[in-house]
Amino acid sequence: MSKLKIVQVGLGSHGTGVGVNAIVSSPDFEYAGLVDPYQPGLEEAARQLNVDSSKLYNDHKKAFAEAGADAVYISAISPVHFEICKDALESGFHVLIEKPFVLDVIEGKELVELAEKKNLKLMVDQNYRYNLHVHDLIKLVQEKKLGELEFANVQFYYFHDGKPYQKEMENYMLMEMAIHHTDLIRYVLGSNVKTVNGKTWNEKNSGYKGDPCVHAAFEMEIGIPVFYTGTLLSKGLSTPWEGKWRIQCKNGSIHLDDLGQDYGVYVVDEHENVTRVPLEWTDYADVKRVFAEFASSIIEDREPAISGRDNLQTLATQLAINKSSKENRQVAISEIL
Ligand SMILES: NC(=O)c1ccc[n+]([C@@H]2O[C@H](COP(=O)([O-])OP(=O)(O)OC[C@H]3O[C@@H](n4cnc5c(N)ncnc54)[C@H](O)[C@@H]3O)[C@@H](O)[C@H]2O)c1
Repeated sequence: MSKLKIVQVGLGSHGTGVGVNAIVSSPDFEYAGLVDPYQPGLEEAARQLNVDSSKLYNDHKKAFAEAGADAVYISAISPVHFEICKDALESGFHVLIEKPFVLDVIEGKELVELAEKKNLKLMVDQNYRYNLHVHDLIKLVQEKKLGELEFANVQFYYFHDGKPYQKEMENYMLMEMAIHHTDLIRYVLGSNVKTVNGKTWNEKNSGYKGDPCVHAAFEMEIGIPVFYTGTLLSKGLSTPWEGKWRIQCKNGSIHLDDLGQDYGVYVVDEHENVTRVPLEWTDYADVKRVFAEFASSIIEDREPAISGRDNLQTLATQLAINKSSKENRQVAISEIL
């Protein structure tokens, strides 16, 4: 079967990296075009991705009209996601879009409905779901060998020198980083968030318009609490991108942490016996798995695993944290959706 033709919109650092790691070698996709208004960056990406200069565009609408694509991958800066995604769907293309899907639930709903009306696939690249450790965490949660879930604690600490567009964003931490963790919390625990009590904050002269720090207490639909702390201004010890996790069960705890044998997944029983869980998946191929799933959903004509519709829950949770912080009250996700 011939490969699906894809146009990639946005060839900055992440987009180019994904191209190199997942698209060039993809058994499912080949490039029909690359789009970026910044010409030097576009040409450098084309060199790295071995894409002919006849397939380069500075304007996504021109690419959508001329390139002969089946699908579009949007890896442009977050504030332009909505406009480009809407144009791609209206032009009849399946869409894989970077997190944050969009910055507003109303926009997200419009795109989900548009995709459904046109029978097009709309998938969000919440690639952490395909992380090696996450796969094992889910298995442990589902096996319930340590008894019922009681609560969970997730912490993320990192010092990040944000991109210019990130420095201007209203919900910088919530939309650019914590959205990965909220999505993982939903995925690993197999439950949407019901309510949040959240607080976001900034530091003087941080250079960010939006808050880089967040704390949130979630009440999950399955009835357990989850406590999340995250900052992109951390000095001192940082955590890996997925953060440090403790999932408390009735008879022991499940961890994603370094409990003495490097960062990984551990279980600790009620006698405090610590066991490192060997990884079931060994190839670090999260974004490759995202593209494989996107292709399968197109070929099999089914909903993709991380659909736009599913992602509305993650997006709404982030906006609920923001609202909770501003209004100093508990916010139900249903108020946002
Ligand atoms: N899934 C992940 O793990 C992950 C990691 C990093 C970034 N991201 C996401 O990827 C996206 C890009 O991030 P980045 O780090 O590459 O940013 P970046 O600033 O390095 O690159 C963004 C690119 O978008 C281009 N651009 C701006 N307006 C455009 C338009 N109208 N049409 C086409 N291109 C346009 C810019 O010229 C730039 O080349 C963001 O949404 C970010 O949140 C996801």
